[in-house]
Amino acid sequence: MANRVPLVIAVLGLLLVLSMVSTIAEAKKKPKKLSFFMFIAVQNNSFLDNPNGQFTAVLSGEAPVTPQPFAFGNLHTFDNPLSKTMSLANPADRVGHVQGWYGNCGQSALTLCLTQTFAYNDSVYAGTFSLLGSGVAFDPVKYAPIVGGTGDFAFCRGVAEQSRVFNAFVNSEENSWFHYNVTFKF
Ligand SMILES: *[C@@H]1O[C@H](CO)[C@@H](O)[C@H](O)[C@H]1NC(C)=O
Ligand SMILES: *[C@@H]1O[C@H](CO)[C@@H](O)[C@H](O)[C@H]1NC(C)=O
Ligand SMILES: *[C@@H]1O[C@H](CO)[C@@H](O)[C@H](O)[C@H]1NC(C)=O
Repeated sequence: MANRVPLVIAVLGLLLVLSMVSTIAEAKKKPKKLSFFMFIAVQNNSFLDNPNGQFTAVLSGEAPVTPQPFAFGNLHTFDNPLSKTMSLANPADRVGHVQGWYGNCGQSALTLCLTQTFAYNDSVYAGTFSLLGSGVAFDPVKYAPIVGGTGDFAFCRGVAEQSRVFNAFVNSEENSWFHYNVTFKF
């Protein structure tokens, strides 16, 4: 009995060290902040047979009576690529895509409600995280909550900062790049 006690202590000590090591390994796996770019090209509804039209977003609903101020009631569905740079030319820069909807939900300002899930993989962190929020479209920076995730983002919360950093009409479609900074807490 007397010499079992040190053995028990040694085993407990070993278990403690192992659990600390795995906690540290897990803590390292959690992202604190990500920065990336999102590309969006909105389909041109007055030029639907555009042979060069390559779009990532379509108008999928609108109010029964149009036009409404600030396009109130419009709903767009999108599947937008994410990139480390403001370019889609190099496949190595791709870090996934974001899918969801934005709806014109303001009657006194151009306001967009966002419901979207990022499927993200930069080879260090991989998983999904979901954003739910509403913001005035022309605010230089828009903030929205991150409400949860899966994979390396499981059980996250966070705040996303979003800015439009580029806008142009290309092949008669409106193309934009947005920059995102996302801060996570677990
Ligand atoms: C993330 O991307 C890397 C590199 O392409 C790949 O090896 C890995 O399987 C991907 N992870 C997930 C969870 O898809
Ligand atoms: C993200 O953070 C960088 C560095 O702090 C800053 O230059 C950039 O404007 C921020 N972008 C957004 C969308 O907040
Ligand atoms: C749609 O395409 C037409 C024809 O090229 C162009 O005149 C118009 O500005 C485009 N509208 C949008 C919203 O891109």
